Amino acid sequence: MLQRYHNIDAHEVHVWHLFAEQAANATPVMHALLSAEERERMARYRHESDRLLYLLSRGMMRTVLASYLGCAWDAVRYTSNAHGKPILDGASVAYASGSLLHFNLTHSNGAIALAVSLDREVGIDIESRHRPAEYLLLAQRFFTESEAQHLHGLDEQQRRDAFFAIWTLKEAFVKGIGRGLSFPLDAFCFELELDRLVAFKPLADFVSPDWHFQQFNLGEQHCGAIAIQSPGALPASIELREWTSAFLTSPSGA
Ligand SMILES: CC(C)(COP(=O)(O)OP(=O)(O)OC[C@H]1O[C@@H](n2cnc3c(N)ncnc32)[C@H](O)[C@@H]1OP(=O)(O)O)[C@@H](O)C(=O)NCCC(=O)NCCS
Repeated sequence: MLQRYHNIDAHEVHVWHLFAEQAANATPVMHALLSAEERERMARYRHESDRLLYLLSRGMMRTVLASYLGCAWDAVRYTSNAHGKPILDGASVAYASGSLLHFNLTHSNGAIALAVSLDREVGIDIESRHRPAEYLLLAQRFFTESEAQHLHGLDEQQRRDAFFAIWTLKEAFVKGIGRGLSFPLDAFCFELELDRLVAFKPLADFVSPDWHFQQFNLGEQHCGAIAIQSPGALPASIELREWTSAFLTSPSGA
């Protein structure tokens, strides 16, 4: 595996991603990157596929974050906020000129994505569109009335796509603000045209409107959303980057 160095500007968000099936030859090195605590947590997963996803997500986080911080892989240190959002700890957080590196991880059914930003909070979520779900029941439980209404008006295929669009947008937002599911999901909503985002609407005065959203696809199966803090409508350019082609050595060693 190659030690790489990357740069990022405050107007950029980089979305690193990998599919577990493409990274099998990275697992021995990934093992060596885990801390003792991470090894213990990995061992607690009952299914091999979950252990693999955990291993690859930790390896991806460490290699990608070290590549921006310009440090050794084992020098990356994490802590978490009061709601469990992993963040870089004080000692390893500083990017060039005192800027702060932010990140957020998501994984679903064989795919992993990691968003990286500078001086702006970021949240990301991916889901497999093939995950069976009772869309209308879940919408009734987790979505606002207008979001659920939107699903009612669609045919089956459109409903599935719109459901996962709203789900990933909602998750990306609560992960961006770092609250996870402790944040009320009915305090904000998304207006969509089919499964495309049209507008983000805060419904309570404690919800900041200063967020930018972008939807994306990973392969055929996964859809995702990014939430990026955008004070004063600061623009954000979002770029998808493949972890395997950037970090795995090719057979020729190039
Ligand atoms: C933990 C939670 C933040 C995300 O969970 P998720 O969507 O199941 O999982 P994802 O793969 O997208 O994200 C998990 C990662 O988010 C990060 N995370 C954990 N707590 C977080 C928080 N408070 N804020 C942001 N990120 C968080 C971690 O890196 C975690 O990775 P790990 O489990 O390997 O340690 C939380 O929102 C949750 O439990 N969601 C359950 C799904 C649900 O019921 N959604 C409601 C419908 S909208």
